[in-house]
Amino acid sequence: METVLVVGATGNIGVSAVTAALRSKRNVLAIVRNDESSKRLIKHVGTSEGIICVQADVTSDNGVRNVVDQVRAGKLPAFQHVWSSVGGEYVSVPLEEIDTERLRRNMNISFEANFFAYRDTIGFLRDQNHPQSTWTICTGMQGELAIFPLPAMTQGALFPMCIAGMRENEETNVRFNEVFLGFRVEHDEDAITHGVVKASDFATVYELILNDETARSSRIKVLTPEDMKKLNIQKRY
Ligand SMILES: NC(=O)c1ccc[n+]([C@@H]2O[C@H](COP(=O)([O-])OP(=O)(O)OC[C@H]3O[C@@H](n4cnc5c(N)ncnc54)[C@H](OP(=O)(O)O)[C@@H]3O)[C@@H](O)[C@H]2O)c1
Repeated sequence: METVLVVGATGNIGVSAVTAALRSKRNVLAIVRNDESSKRLIKHVGTSEGIICVQADVTSDNGVRNVVDQVRAGKLPAFQHVWSSVGGEYVSVPLEEIDTERLRRNMNISFEANFFAYRDTIGFLRDQNHPQSTWTICTGMQGELAIFPLPAMTQGALFPMCIAGMRENEETNVRFNEVFLGFRVEHDEDAITHGVVKASDFATVYELILNDETARSSRIKVLTPEDMKKLNIQKRY
């Protein structure tokens, strides 16, 4: 059975990815920060079956790398797919009120952690040479709208990283894709309260990506409910 490594697994989007992996009959290796995070993940997903949690600090230079080292050493299961959606604050603080510490913290969580996730897992996926491997990241339209400047700037940095990932994997065994999300998705119970899209509903997008081999080196635009039923695939170059 295939395994999906999920980075940012406890988040609104990460829980959606875990749900998609399980629904598509794959196991999950979830990187979490502590026991409390593991419990929250299991609660949101509704089951622990098929999920192995491993603790690491994904915002540090070697957090994800240490997990991959454990996989290479056979202490954790090999994975054929990676999903990354580490995210920082979702707030509307004006630019002039963002102090340096806050800017750096958010760039670290929302940009660097996703960069480390790519840098330190892609070699393992290529080495395995599994023909259906995927590497997927979630970015958001805030990166273009900038109504919330702090998350917008971190998304902006992810956009060229995604295009580079698409180019660098065009001819590899790994289908690199960026999910570009244009509406709000939250954990199911929060989504009901706030009237936004449920993580379990958004999960269909990742199910489609995992199973649809035409999604390769592309941006998958999710701007309408229809885009959760049929992939809206866009080439970026
Ligand atoms: N939700 C949306 O509707 C939406 C829309 C468009 C784009 N996106 C993008 O998707 C990404 C994830 O969004 P989200 O809504 O899922 O965010 P979220 O619910 O805040 O989840 C963020 C994830 O990052 C982890 N994380 C945050 N700070 C961390 C830290 N210091 N150390 C280790 N882990 C940390 C969280 O772990 P803990 O649970 O342990 O805190 C969680 O797993 C973001 O880049 C966001 O811009 C989201």
